Amino acid sequence: MHILHVVGARPNFMKAAPVLQALARQNHVRQTLVHTGQHYDFNMSDVFFQQLGMPAPDINLEVGSGSHAQQTSQIIARFEAIVVEYKPDWVVVYGDVNSTVAAAMVCAKLLIPVAHVEAGLRSFDRTMPEEINRLLTDQISDLLFTPSQDGDRNLQTEGIAPAKVHLVGNVMIDTLVRLLPLAPERLPSNVPERYALVTLHRPSNVDDIEWLRSLLDMLMEISREVPILFPLHPRTRSRIAEAGIELSDRGSGLQILEPTPYLEFLALQSRAAVVITDSGGIQEETTFLGVPCLTVRENTERPITVSMGTNTLVGRDVACLRTELKAVLAGKAKRGTIPPLWDGHAAERIAQVMTQS
Ligand code: UD1
Repeated sequence: MHILHVVGARPNFMKAAPVLQALARQNHVRQTLVHTGQHYDFNMSDVFFQQLGMPAPDINLEVGSGSHAQQTSQIIARFEAIVVEYKPDWVVVYGDVNSTVAAAMVCAKLLIPVAHVEAGLRSFDRTMPEEINRLLTDQISDLLFTPSQDGDRNLQTEGIAPAKVHLVGNVMIDTLVRLLPLAPERLPSNVPERYALVTLHRPSNVDDIEWLRSLLDMLMEISREVPILFPLHPRTRSRIAEAGIELSDRGSGLQILEPTPYLEFLALQSRAAVVITDSGGIQEETTFLGVPCLTVRENTERPITVSMGTNTLVGRDVACLRTELKAVLAGKAKRGTIPPLWDGHAAERIAQVMTQS
């Protein structure tokens, strides 16, 4: 059985790593790894392969950056040739990035079965590019692996045959469980005793310059009370530069970092007093770690992190962020529990289903 995996952007790597490992343990499985090149910087891609212990990609499509249409169409054009040449029995796609939908589309047209890992998540906000990617990928996938029961419900509502859907749990947590013991020794030096960790990269936060400016002002203000560590995503860095915003305000406790490798970021998350983010994966990781998370979005495709976990949505509302943050810092953080099947074994369940299909 020949299984071809497609990854492209940073959040794909920690999801693919455990699935590759679980399938490698099965007899009669041959695997090929394709990197689309959507993310290409060393600290957005290569360092993750190293730390996660992933094999180097067999093929890199090197599509790089571009508009959504350019990026997606380049992946479609280049990936089609690979599928025609390799004729895999299955193609596995991950998450909700442009690489995910582009690869799934190629396979659907060539009648190659597609498995979607992290299926069924919905923010119900079609202004998010990732929501379009999720909806389309799920419609054309043959096997859909969901991380939580809300995913199964969403897929049922959209008319997906229940026989294709398997509730397996969260593969991102598989990677976290495996690597958490290695994280403490990777804690960057000079980390304050108590700090808030911030990541922001979603277009809804960083492409609207007025909103970005008010968020950064707010962070600067908070950092006088609690130091802030802020690894900057390349998108955010370029928006800040384009807007001519100056972040090096003397006297504030705002520390700007480069995009942080997996183990260092895991160490930072697990030690943080609070995490402020707009990332999807970080909402899940903080829920598993029991660290309070304030999500700067109006909605989430991961509602279980709010209903069961430590996540609170603060919307696009600086006053709400300030109030929630004060409560967390005063020791009134929400307590959560770990959702079912977020147990470190999701990829094994995927491997079992795939090798029996
Ligand atoms: C993508 C995903 C998003 C995911 C995020 C994690 C889509 C639609 N979005 O968003 O779901 O949460 O990755 O990082 O697929 N850039 C670099 N170096 C890189 C990669 C990107 O400088 O290695 C720059 C690009 O030039 C571009 C910007 O970062 O200006 C955005 O990159 P892009 O891949 O378009 O989307 P992300 O915002 O990273």
